[in-house]
Amino acid sequence: MQTSGPRSRPLSLALLQDAVLRWYDANGRDLPWRRTRDPYAILVSEVMAQQTQVARVVAYYERWLERWPTPAALARAPLGDVLSAWVGLGYNTRALRLRETATIIARDGWPRDSAGLRSLPGVGPYTAAAVASFAFGERIAAVDTNVRRMAARLQTAPQSLLPQHRHADWNQAAMELGAVHCRARAPRCDGCPAAQWCPSNGLVVTAPRAARGTGERFEDSDRWVRGRVISGLASGAGLPSDISAERMTRVLQALQRDGLVTVDATGVGLSR
Ligand code: ADE
Repeated sequence: MQTSGPRSRPLSLALLQDAVLRWYDANGRDLPWRRTRDPYAILVSEVMAQQTQVARVVAYYERWLERWPTPAALARAPLGDVLSAWVGLGYNTRALRLRETATIIARDGWPRDSAGLRSLPGVGPYTAAAVASFAFGERIAAVDTNVRRMAARLQTAPQSLLPQHRHADWNQAAMELGAVHCRARAPRCDGCPAAQWCPSNGLVVTAPRAARGTGERFEDSDRWVRGRVISGLASGAGLPSDISAERMTRVLQALQRDGLVTVDATGVGLSR
């Protein structure tokens, strides 16, 4: 008799998919972009959520859609207004690319599928797949870092997990699982609906804090200064005064390169 059997059952795709979808039905967060199939609203949510916590995104998303409910409305907005509305989300070039994309869509209409979406500014493979899946019903895996990690721990490819039916729900569920249970640093295998098929169940070692990252404080990073410059220009308060000239020069050059600010004889301003 076998006393110490394998830690997990062989992967049964249908059972795993079913368990994860049922878990998602019962536990998935009620996020506003999960209630729409409007490609523009979904694009806005995905671009905002790319590098910002979902809990923080919700209020920005709702304000944004109230103010600019369509690609045409966003295309008409002055860049200063768009960047002001983005203050607090960080990574401001995302706002710039989103408005460029809105301008293209207002002129040409929506691409029909994920391949077409990928040609839009700021729309990478993940965002294209998410919009195509949630808005167009295309059967494609939306693979962000959470989903990639979850599939790696299951020792399979993210694409191979995608069910034939409810594939859009699967994409939401996989993301949710990655955020709630299959977390990078502190996985919660207890209560994970995939645990019984997961070869990594209970085996992922959590890295000690000291071993992670560079140790740099966010306040010491150029990204922090970039955000303060954009918010100072957007609000009319002007440039922050507590930054060294050398650092300010470097940051302004980078912001100019990214098309976010212009510097001329009259001074520094947000691009139009
Ligand atoms: N992060 C990125 N996209 C998301 C989504 N659709 N739902 C939850 N978190 C997300």
